[in-house]
Amino acid sequence: MVLHDFPVDARGVLSIGGCRAPDLAETHGTPLLVIDEGRFRQNCRAYRESLREVYPRSQPIFASKAMCVLATCRLAYDEGLHVDVASGGEIYTARRGGVPGAVLHFHGNNKTEDELRLALAEGVGRIIVDNLYELELLDRLTREMQAQPAILLRITPGIEPHTHKAIQTGGVDSKFGFGLPDGAAMQAVRTALEIPGIELRGFHCHIGSQIFDPEPFALAARSMVQFMAEVRLELNLTFPELNLGGGLGIRYLPEDAPPSIPTFVRGLAGALRQTLEAHDLPEPLLYVEPGRSIVGDAGVTLYTVGAIKAIPGVRTYASVDGGMFENPRPALYGARYTAAVADRAADPVDRAVTIAGRCCESGDVLIWEAALPPIRPGDRLAVFSTGAYTYSMASNYNRFPRPAVVLAGEGRARVVVERETYDDLIRKDRPLT
Ligand code: LLP
Repeated sequence: MVLHDFPVDARGVLSIGGCRAPDLAETHGTPLLVIDEGRFRQNCRAYRESLREVYPRSQPIFASKAMCVLATCRLAYDEGLHVDVASGGEIYTARRGGVPGAVLHFHGNNKTEDELRLALAEGVGRIIVDNLYELELLDRLTREMQAQPAILLRITPGIEPHTHKAIQTGGVDSKFGFGLPDGAAMQAVRTALEIPGIELRGFHCHIGSQIFDPEPFALAARSMVQFMAEVRLELNLTFPELNLGGGLGIRYLPEDAPPSIPTFVRGLAGALRQTLEAHDLPEPLLYVEPGRSIVGDAGVTLYTVGAIKAIPGVRTYASVDGGMFENPRPALYGARYTAAVADRAADPVDRAVTIAGRCCESGDVLIWEAALPPIRPGDRLAVFSTGAYTYSMASNYNRFPRPAVVLAGEGRARVVVERETYDDLIRKDRPLT
């Protein structure tokens, strides 16, 4: 049997990357984020190969914000992806992970002068310029540093996909990018062309995250091509690159049915090509920028069950040794997950248990209604699809140390991030003397 595509043996023991989940928990402690190396690589390849097939002038980019550590940046690069970075810290992490500056794509709605200097010094491949302030900064910095970065302009096409409000990014009322409908985008092209130190290579958009419906992606592709056609009409110029962002959703619950990566890519490329032809525009180099659909389903978090509190007629809380400090998504977005007992994963589920975290907040619940067999203190719990936006959004709230991260593949588990210690927690504190 399989759970979330991970094998469960005849005894009910769950394996990840060929490693028995209970053994991983025993060896490395919990909470533990396990990344299945094979799954991560497979997702990268699915993007690369399906793009190559349907739109050869293309390049996938791993949106590192989903899980930005040395190992994940490096894995993505080894699989032929470029890497999207959204801060000086992400640039630094990717570079230290062995990713060349030339394949980094630098995003952000408020890049600081220091970060832009770092990006220029590291020879970042593309800077995705978000606003006029950034263009002014780049004008000054490129003169000063005698750099000539290639840039894309981030455009806000005015599309609102059906996803959680906090992760919608392409609508008109957004802090990101140059608006299409209000003419800001066209004005930005004119301004960018006047800056001698930058090379405008094209446009970028990103409409949101955890999206299943192909329609908003197709709409975004069409709006961007429409814009490129307007640019040609007004300025008699075509630009060679188009980045359509990330956003493909993944399965968190059994009933979730996201399109596969190849289906998504085919739909997007199809909509793009059709609109390009309609406008008689040459095919730009297409970038797509997935984060969640690369690393999300490759991750499983292992916990140990502690206190169990049954409130008759109300609910049973089973508290685990993690919580919103290592996965803030349920508390932030009402995100839902599924769980299994790591060594009794095949047992019939007979009840709904509430899996609570350890933070001092009533809202720190990881799963409100988890379908599980009867559980007891000491059980190892596996929560699926936790690779994306968990570790990368983790905090030290309540001074909980951040978990370790292991990469599991072909029966071997490598620690890629060590568990924080109490000393790590106070490392930057200075005592009052
Ligand atoms: N490109 C840009 C410019 C982005 O802002 C993002 C995500 C991506 C690509 C990758 O999107 P993905 O393929 O992962 O959907 N913390 C939220 C998600 C925030 C997404 C932020 N931007 C969550 O946990 O659901």
